[in-house]
Amino acid sequence: MGRFTMEAKIMEEVTVFLDILEQEDRHSGFDVHNHLTVSVSAIISSLIFGKHFTHDDPYFVRLLDCLYRLSKVVTPDASNFIPGISLLPNSNFRRFKTYYNEVKTDFFEKEIAEHTARLDTENPRDFIDVYLTKMIELRKAGKHTTFSEEQLLVLVSDIFGAGSETTTTTLKWAFLYMIRHPDKQSKVQEELDRVIGRSRLPCLNDQASLLYTQATLFEVFRRSSVVPLGVFHAAVKETTLAGYRIPEGAIIGPNLWGIHHDPALWQNPNEFQPERFLDSDGNLMKPDTLLPFSAGLRTCIGELLARQEAFLFFASVLQRFNLVPPEGGPVPEDSGLLSIVLASKPYKMRAIVR
Ligand code: HEM
Repeated sequence: MGRFTMEAKIMEEVTVFLDILEQEDRHSGFDVHNHLTVSVSAIISSLIFGKHFTHDDPYFVRLLDCLYRLSKVVTPDASNFIPGISLLPNSNFRRFKTYYNEVKTDFFEKEIAEHTARLDTENPRDFIDVYLTKMIELRKAGKHTTFSEEQLLVLVSDIFGAGSETTTTTLKWAFLYMIRHPDKQSKVQEELDRVIGRSRLPCLNDQASLLYTQATLFEVFRRSSVVPLGVFHAAVKETTLAGYRIPEGAIIGPNLWGIHHDPALWQNPNEFQPERFLDSDGNLMKPDTLLPFSAGLRTCIGELLARQEAFLFFASVLQRFNLVPPEGGPVPEDSGLLSIVLASKPYKMRAIVR
């Protein structure tokens, strides 16, 4: 995920997204969900498949629909702790298997087969090519390896699943908080106008000079905690942590939402307050307790990409638009809906060109 290659790909999608917002704006407002999902997924798809899909490509729209249904049945429910539940006829696990098979056979297996047929090991074009090239190299060298076609399939599905909805959900929260807190929105816009102006779009190098904008994104990451219970892991052996015995095989879910809303760590944790990440001289502070991507050896592999996407989409949208509720319409609520991500409830907004 080389910084500059990804920046160019993200900005291609940001530009399309800004035009869509401008076209969509109407007094009654619109739901940004579908357009944002397509934009963010198009970035992942160019990384993994090397393909740039347009927003109305029927193949891509169907893939996203399948992935959406899949994501809704991946929930931290009782089946994680009571294994028998997953065998019940209508369990989330059974539905997961049905939806996963659909995505696997209709999309991912086909893409991998196409890549295998066209592979040029000297010129890998995307993630699948790089993986296949490495697998062939290891097999030729007769080395024991975990690289396999089956692993690649699961990886592609993991990266799509983990990389698209998380980022989309974060950005939807970011827009929602800006609508709920117009004073914070104006402060971000004042900073963008002062540092960048309006004649060019923001770029990653601007981050170092946009401290209030960054603090606002930190606060979005904290307050929304889009992966509230992290990803569950199992203890590989018995251990003791803070006086508690953790038996081998126990399922562990880190309560990231709990850390982000602990009053012992954050003053008025339920308030949206970007200023908590700035010291009295206006310098940005990142406390160790801000952990949207979790911690430890298995922390999110997409953190860098996600931070870049969040910054470039957020800064570009606020540079061009004022985000407000629909005319006479409700201000969006800040309570969430839980699946594996904690999403905002569907809401409508207006994006008025500044
Ligand atoms: C704002 C956006 C995102 C958030 C908040 C987020 C958060 C997380 C969290 C909390 C985990 C669990 C780590 C653990 O097991 O302890 C995780 C895992 C993961 N994330 Fe992200 N993520 C985001 C974006 C992305 C993106 C853009 C990608 C891919 C390009 C990605 C790929 C993954 C993968 C593959 C895993 C599983 C890693 C493993 O199994 O070891 N994520 N993410």
